[in-house]
Amino acid sequence: MKFVLGIDLGTSGTKTVLFDQEGRAQASCTVEYPLYQPHNGWAEQDPLDWYHAAVTTIKTVLEKSGVDRKDVVALGISGQMHGLVMLDEKGQVLRRSIIWCDQRTAKECDEIHATVGKEKLISITANPALTGFTLSKLLWVRNNEPDLYARCAHILLPKDYVRFMLTGDYATEVSDASGMQMLDVPGRCWSSELLRTLNIDESLLAKVYESPEVTGHISEEAAKLTGLSPDTLVVGGAGDNAAAAVGTGVVEDGKAFTTIGTSGVVFAHTDKLAIDPKGRVHTFCCAVPGAWHVMGVTQGAGLSLKWFRDNFCAAEKEAAGQMGVDPYDLMNKEAALSPIGSNKLLYAPYLMGERTPHLDADCRGMFFGLSAMHTRRDLLRAVMEGVTFSLADCLGVLREMGVEPAEMLACGGGGRSPLWRQMLADVFGCPVATTVNTEGPALGVAILAGVGAGLYPSVPEACRAMIRQNEAQRPIAENVPKYAKVYDVYKRLYPANRDVFKALAQLD
Ligand code: XUL
Repeated sequence: MKFVLGIDLGTSGTKTVLFDQEGRAQASCTVEYPLYQPHNGWAEQDPLDWYHAAVTTIKTVLEKSGVDRKDVVALGISGQMHGLVMLDEKGQVLRRSIIWCDQRTAKECDEIHATVGKEKLISITANPALTGFTLSKLLWVRNNEPDLYARCAHILLPKDYVRFMLTGDYATEVSDASGMQMLDVPGRCWSSELLRTLNIDESLLAKVYESPEVTGHISEEAAKLTGLSPDTLVVGGAGDNAAAAVGTGVVEDGKAFTTIGTSGVVFAHTDKLAIDPKGRVHTFCCAVPGAWHVMGVTQGAGLSLKWFRDNFCAAEKEAAGQMGVDPYDLMNKEAALSPIGSNKLLYAPYLMGERTPHLDADCRGMFFGLSAMHTRRDLLRAVMEGVTFSLADCLGVLREMGVEPAEMLACGGGGRSPLWRQMLADVFGCPVATTVNTEGPALGVAILAGVGAGLYPSVPEACRAMIRQNEAQRPIAENVPKYAKVYDVYKRLYPANRDVFKALAQLD
């Protein structure tokens, strides 16, 4: 039996899972790290934290599983997308990484549109300039830290930095590179034209591969630190959403998934390039060579519930610690005691601005309709419902583009909650299923590793061999119209407050 390793470099931590070639998890380990928020709307992480987490988790799963390292034929890395890692010519990190949810770059997005032209930009990168994407972050550093920019010799994405540290190779792959906004997304290569127009040196960028392609192997030094064999191959891997698609079998037309991780995503596979002219959803290359995906993003999905847990659920945290259960399980039980509509309380999950459908870096989260009769359980349920409505906004745009999934797969931490999945089914109006293996992105890149190592001939065939699905939760007929009424009110919240958010952002 051969084994493949999947490393998922998330925002709250890195999770590494060792799988056998039939997709069964052998051992798993997660290491968390901090998120730095020096100003409202800023978000940074230390790339060395990611690397150390990768080394520790690889070492731990190898030890836990007892698998012979020679049988670990390949590994793949999945990562939070868009983060900017800048290295000097010796490969040393120049500054903390400005990560995906950082919102400081509105001015640079205007600069990109003014220099390139919005239509031209969309025709090349398939997306309008967005604060979350890497390009605007790079220009922010050029505008605000010119000395540091001058010393920069390499730009990498988070997972590609970890690859570099494990292999010595400067490499990336199409799915994650799409989110840098420097890739020609239809052509699947760097856009020399765009880089020239913006005066960015192409040699800063890594070599681009397709996601299942082999980019190198583990270095002697990394082999010593991790316990892996230097013969272990490293494949392109994928951005976290493209990886989750592979890990849930969303690799063919008509298939879609929703993930509730720190951010939330509604993702549909497409064999043909499809672009929303209003730029409300992203079009990226997917991890299946020659195909793309469209996806809408809720910036603060699981983040909203985590924020609520960390600030208002000390009691659940303590009780969960004593009972040896997850605090989220207790929070779910509490939320289930509040009725649909949370007793007329709404929550908008714009803690870090919003992408789909508003594309607004300045909007912020809110509870709307607070009354003296509300209790914490209403607030909790309102958070879960608000995130669900925001994800329904994402699906709405995909439906406008003619993407109509027959069934939705659910994944991410939030996708493990039966209550949240039922909300998704009732609000989306379609069955919501899970996969037996819940490792999503880690399994996805392990599958890509299996394809790269030749264990399987193609990504869809590997998915058929390695993924099994559970029975779906169907919409409950009486719930559907109840949620629909609340969603109608939710949809009015953002337009009614657009100007107020701007005024709030301009306060000192
Ligand atoms: C996708 C996005 C997030 C991050 C973090 O565009 O920004 O999903 O990848 O998970």
